[in-house]
Amino acid sequence: MNDQPIGIFDSGVGGTSIWKEINGLLPHEHTIYLADSKNAPYGEKSEENILGLSIKNTELLLKRDCKLIVVACNTATTNAIDYLRKNYEIPFIGIEPAIKPAALQSKSKTVGILATKGTLSSSLFHSTSENHADGIRIIEREGTGLVGLIESGKAGSEVSKELLEIYLTPMLAAGIDHLVLGCTHYPYLIPVLEELLPEGVTIIDSGEAVARQTKAVLKENDMLNSSKEKGIKRFLNGS
Ligand code: DGL
Repeated sequence: MNDQPIGIFDSGVGGTSIWKEINGLLPHEHTIYLADSKNAPYGEKSEENILGLSIKNTELLLKRDCKLIVVACNTATTNAIDYLRKNYEIPFIGIEPAIKPAALQSKSKTVGILATKGTLSSSLFHSTSENHADGIRIIEREGTGLVGLIESGKAGSEVSKELLEIYLTPMLAAGIDHLVLGCTHYPYLIPVLEELLPEGVTIIDSGEAVARQTKAVLKENDMLNSSKEKGIKRFLNGS
């Protein structure tokens, strides 16, 4: 069992921000990264559609004998993880916008969240955000168009800068001191975000926390690979 790979999926390249953290923390694990680029972006799709794609990705990774699956996509996590956990026996690790740490650290009591439409409209996101938003003002914005730009290698382009300026303006006007990146593609925008954000605004991204949670769950289930060799890293394209 311990020798089986960890499966990781996203709609495209975004989840590699999580993949990197997992490989850093668990170098001896084999990993299979599945990018469903053909169907990206997920964020504009219906809940039913996102669930169907998440099931398809899970089945594909299970065929490759994965022992645990990391849903390295906020959109798929918030729309499908409950179903996946109920219907498959292996453990699933998900990623959700990190509202809790942002809310705890915020001095201005105002936090910005940039995520996809699919994440912001999900009921899981709403219940998490209500749980942690006591006394905190949350300014949400859909990052329409950003995933497409990142998928086509244009994260640092003028267009993505212009879009980000539009999305950040109301957040900055409201006085946010934390910006939560609620999509695994968005860490690729950090260089541009750092140019656009004033000094007092902290960017929060949960990649490292997901890697720590993956390690904890593997350990808890006695599933860690005890090999001293470097794990094999594989990549798949969804169909
Ligand atoms: N990277 C994904 C997320 O974290 C999906 C983005 C998309 O395909 O719209 O939400």
